[in-house]
Amino acid sequence: MLKPEMERALNEQLGAELYSSHLYLAMSAFCEAEGYPGAARWFRVQADEERGHAMRFFDHVVGRGGRVRLGEIPAPPAGFDSLLGAFEQALDQERQVTAAIDRLMALAAEHGDHAAAAFLQWFVTEQVEEEKQVADVVAALRAIGDDAAARFILDRELGARPAEG
Ligand SMILES: [Fe+2]
Ligand SMILES: [Fe+2]
Repeated sequence: MLKPEMERALNEQLGAELYSSHLYLAMSAFCEAEGYPGAARWFRVQADEERGHAMRFFDHVVGRGGRVRLGEIPAPPAGFDSLLGAFEQALDQERQVTAAIDRLMALAAEHGDHAAAAFLQWFVTEQVEEEKQVADVVAALRAIGDDAAARFILDRELGARPAEG
C-alpha cells in the first residue's frame, strides 16, 4: 500500500511530466512557426515521450492501490527567444526533472518504499539519456552560431527522430 506522502509526491511528479509534455508541445509550435520543421518534429516526439512518462506514474500509483489526482497544468511560455533558446530551456527543464526524481528517490528510501525505488530507477537512467540528448543539441546549435546552412542541416537531422514506441 502506498503511503500518503509517497502518493502525493508521485502525483506531483505525474503533473510535472505532463507539464514537460505541454512545454515541449509549445516548443514544437514555436519551431513550426519559425520554419524549423525538423526541430518541431523532434519536440513533438519529445512531448509524446513525456506523456508516456506521466502514464508510468499513473500506472504505478494505480497499481499500488493509490489514487491518481490530476492538478492544473501551468501554461508554458508563449514564445521563445530562438531555436537555441528553446533547447536551452528544454535542458533546464530536464535538469529540474532530474533533481525532482532524485528527491523522489530519497523520499522512497526514507519511507522504505522499495517498490517505488525500483520503479523510479528507470527514470534515474532515463534522465541521464534525456539530459545528454538535449545538451548535445544545445552544443551543436552553439557551435553553428549564425551559420544558416549548418542550422538547416541540423534541423533535417532533428527531423529524422523516430516516433515513440
Ligand atoms: Fe520525463
Ligand atoms: Fe524529459
